[in-house]
Amino acid sequence: MKVLANDGISKSGQEALNKAGFEVLEVNVAQEQLAKYINDQQVSVLLVRSATKVTKEVLDNCPTLKIIGRGGVGMDNIEVEYARSKGLHVINTPAASSSSVAELVFAHLFSGVRFLHDANRNMPLEGDSNFKKLKQAYAKGAELRGKTLGIIGFGRIGSETAKIALGIGMKVQFVDPVLQETTVTVPFFDGQSVSFNLKSTSLEELLKSSDFISLHVPAQNSYLIGKKEFDLMKPGVGIVNAARGGVLDEVALVDALESGKVAFAGLDVFETEPNPEIRILMHPDISLTPHIGASTAEAQDRIGLELASQIITIFN
Ligand SMILES: NC(=O)c1ccc[n+]([C@@H]2O[C@H](COP(=O)([O-])OP(=O)(O)OC[C@H]3O[C@@H](n4cnc5c(N)ncnc54)[C@H](O)[C@@H]3O)[C@@H](O)[C@H]2O)c1
Repeated sequence: MKVLANDGISKSGQEALNKAGFEVLEVNVAQEQLAKYINDQQVSVLLVRSATKVTKEVLDNCPTLKIIGRGGVGMDNIEVEYARSKGLHVINTPAASSSSVAELVFAHLFSGVRFLHDANRNMPLEGDSNFKKLKQAYAKGAELRGKTLGIIGFGRIGSETAKIALGIGMKVQFVDPVLQETTVTVPFFDGQSVSFNLKSTSLEELLKSSDFISLHVPAQNSYLIGKKEFDLMKPGVGIVNAARGGVLDEVALVDALESGKVAFAGLDVFETEPNPEIRILMHPDISLTPHIGASTAEAQDRIGLELASQIITIFN
């Protein structure tokens, strides 16, 4: 049985599938050639990440397909309901990358409070000629310890983000429509752990009282954070979006950065992905990454193994 891993698969996932008797085709077939390739190769399982689109046309024209697998969470690039209505299994790996995304949030937060994103742009240009000027420009840093992190959306990634925050001594508050109260257990390397009981707050209260805000909601029908929400925030707040482009209004963000209301932003996702707005890319107060939240060796290993195990279970 053939598995086409069109956006790649980890070595561990590939080995697990090979061991169970599957042949893994690790080529990247262009979108226009996809249906033809699947038919020529008689592919049973199509694995994608976010790049390959599993359209109705692909589903209609590829009768050998039995499973569509998404390595990751969001399935916006797959016609999920249509595939299921045709009797296909559609699987994903929702939990595998949560701690990687949470760590990236903290990479942006630590970067923001010490201006690393801007220092890394200017040190290569002026580090030798203007060291003292740059030292002065980046001298007003802050610590995260003791500050309040507001987490909007307290699912898998939101709660992983809370664990890191609590671990470094931050206070955590959250909003989530399906969760009033929860216990977050922070594990330590030696098996010890500490549990914290957290109660949800209102969005307004969170916006008003957080020193930093991180977004962990699924795609929404309209902006969750726009001008009105920025207006409510504490002056000097830092905000991170590693959820989905379109959750945060980027025009309102630039205005809030320029007025000084927001001190810095960390963005891993963009409204106009894969062509983020130039005003966003060039802004000195935005720490930028190209949608790499889940892109760690550990997350990719877990994703590959989780997909392999689900595929093996379905065919057994
Ligand atoms: N940057 C990356 O590379 C990357 C990787 C994986 C996932 N993601 C994104 O991260 C986001 C969160 O993923 P997850 O696995 O934690 O999802 P999840 O489903 O576990 O959690 C999402 C939570 O958001 C809550 N929610 C929904 N609407 C809300 C609202 N309006 N206000 C407050 N809370 C709301 C839900 O009740 C749920 O608890 C998703 O958008 C996902 O696509 C990004």
